[in-house]
Amino acid sequence: MSRVPFICGNWKLNKTLSEAVALARAVAAGAAEGVDVGVAPVATALHSVAGALGGTPVLLGAQNCYHQDAGAFTGEISPPLLADVGCKFVIVGHSERRQLFGETDEGVNLKVKAVLDAGLLPIVCVGETIDQRKAGDTMKVVSAQVKGGLKGLAPEQIGSLVLAYEPVWAIGTGLTATTDQAQQVHADIRALLRELAGDEAERARIQYGGSVKPSNAAALLDQPDIDGALVGGAALKAEDFVAIIEAAV
Ligand code: PGA
Repeated sequence: MSRVPFICGNWKLNKTLSEAVALARAVAAGAAEGVDVGVAPVATALHSVAGALGGTPVLLGAQNCYHQDAGAFTGEISPPLLADVGCKFVIVGHSERRQLFGETDEGVNLKVKAVLDAGLLPIVCVGETIDQRKAGDTMKVVSAQVKGGLKGLAPEQIGSLVLAYEPVWAIGTGLTATTDQAQQVHADIRALLRELAGDEAERARIQYGGSVKPSNAAALLDQPDIDGALVGGAALKAEDFVAIIEAAV
């Protein structure tokens, strides 16, 4: 089964409006045939970036959402409102949200369902800490996150979504999993998806994330179960991000 690679930039808490619009334009200029490209700006820039990306194939996404559609939830943003501003995907359960904002697998599961209900694509992030890897618990941790995050989903829903395997120790550290380490976990995640969703597992895309950069992207993306990348630091520079897109062609 050939899956279309998906290269997605997670801009985190960076970029003013004008910087975000300029970066979005530069990314759109570098988008390539045969690769899905997405950017997830800070929430204040979503509307402006949607305008900048209009008429281009680059997908707009959000870095987080709440699981309720509307109501007395001060400070939150819902999937229907993200769809309204032009988002096509939402990153859910990023390790920074798990670590700094106390997100749990149960909370991730509610968000995943809300994102799907709004007709958007969830990118569900999973990954182990360095202590968990050293203790030999990588797949125990990742399996629990995948099972918890996808609980109650129909096989077709699992087939349609994106998972991002991001070892916590590789995020923003300059350390990257070796291609073998990454492929091994991706293959194990695929096997788990087969248990959960049968043949639909072949359709689900699994991105790798954690210090992806132009120099390591091609080798990672060459692995059979690595279907794209979720890119943080290197997504903030158009030249680097476009080089990563090119590595996926
Ligand atoms: P990084 O971040 O590329 O800066 O390591 C990846 C991520 O957090 O998604």
